[in-house]
Parts: sequence; structure tokens; C-alpha cells
Amino acid sequence: MRWHDSNIDVGDGTRLRPWRIDDLDALVRHADDERISRGTSDRFPFPYTRADGEAFLSGRVVGFDDPVFAIEIDGEACGGIGARPFAGERAVGAELGYWLGQAHWGRGVMTRVVSVFAPWAEQALGVSRLQAGVLDFNLASARVLEKNGFVAEGVLRRAVRKRGCLHDLRLFGRLADTVG
Ligand SMILES: CC(C)(COP(=O)(O)OP(=O)(O)OC[C@H]1O[C@@H](n2cnc3c(N)ncnc32)[C@H](O)[C@@H]1OP(=O)(O)O)[C@@H](O)C(=O)NCCC(=O)NCCS
Repeated sequence: MRWHDSNIDVGDGTRLRPWRIDDLDALVRHADDERISRGTSDRFPFPYTRADGEAFLSGRVVGFDDPVFAIEIDGEACGGIGARPFAGERAVGAELGYWLGQAHWGRGVMTRVVSVFAPWAEQALGVSRLQAGVLDFNLASARVLEKNGFVAEGVLRRAVRKRGCLHDLRLFGRLADTVG
């Protein structure tokens, strides 16, 4: 695996590194949370069981050929971030995704993580564009992106059904050469 040696320091006791099998307990503890599942893809279920954690850690949910890292805070995996490059003529870009255990919300952690991961991913993947889709109600995630040079580019109207309701998906993009 291309990223197995990655160890990205974010400061304040936070680093990004590949997921490990022994993260299972911490992963399930932080991931089993309706408020996280609400803002993410259905690949991130609620309840989040040990079987879900095992499937993820064995690479059966998200491919670990892409940079998909644990956010480790004070030695414990408390969230995740990853970038998945597009293929063919769209290989200039990659899709960003992330989540953080609720115990750590509201302290600027994800803003700092994205500020380090975004330029790292642009360089490591050789992409000039990162994008992220954010559900209409997810103002915290939109804010994290805006503070890191992402611009709201448009809205895919009623593009996502979550918990039986239709939601708009806001598309945010960041161009590497326009970030100062
Ligand atoms: C989105 C998420 C990653 C944010 O992580 P975090 O570490 O709490 O984020 P930060 O503290 O760095 O920044 C949050 C920003 O959103 C703002 N915010 C939080 N809740 C808000 C709300 N309800 N309305 C408006 N702004 C809000 C905060 O004030 C802060 O902005 P500020 O610094 O300008 O004040 C976290 O809530 C999460 O994991 N959510 C569930 C999974 C998810 O939605 N992932 C993203 C999918 S696109």
C-alpha cells in the first residue's frame, strides 16, 4: 500500500496515519453515533457495529489504495479523513471526505486537519482540485471547507435521500493554485 508509511503531524497532539486493525475499539466507540451518520454517506451506518468496523478496517468499505487516514488525537483514532482521486479525464481532481468523533467537535480540530491534509493530498496525488459534497443542513462542515479555501460552486438539488427525506447536496471546490 502506497500510503502505509504516512504520518502527518497536525499539531496539538493530532496526527493523520493509516488505519490499523487495533483501532477497532476506538473506531466503533466514536463512529457509533447518529449525528455522524446523518452527515455522511450511507457507507457510514448507524448503528455502527463491530462488524461494520471490521469491514472498514479490512478495506472492504473504502479502498485503502487511496489515502484514507485515521485522525489520531492523543494516541487514539477519533475520526477519519480521505481523498479519492477521480479517473480518466477527471483525474485532475479528488473527492474529500471526513468525520470526527463528537467528543472532539467544536474545538477547531477538523479545520486544522483539513488545513494540513488538503495541501498534502494535492501534492501527494498530483491533483489541482479537491471537492466535497455537503448536505444542506451540515453548516459545520461547510464552514470547515470555507475556512480552508473551498468555494461553494453549486447545488445538486434534492440529490440525496437520508432518513427518508430528500436533501440538496452543496458542492464545494478548492483549486490548489488559488489558495494562498
Ligand atoms: C463536520 C465536522 C467534521 C466538524 O468538525 P469540528 O472539528 O467540530 O469542526 P471545527 O471546530 O473545526 O469547525 C466547525 C465550524 O463550524 C461552525 N459550526 C458548528 N456548528 C454549526 C452550526 N450548527 N451552524 C453554523 N456553524 C456551525 C463552528 O462555529 C466552526 O466555525 P468557526 O470556527 O467559524 O466558528 C464534525 O461535526 C463531524 O464529524 N460531523 C459529522 C460527519 C460529517 O458531517 N462529515 C462531513 C461530511 S461533508
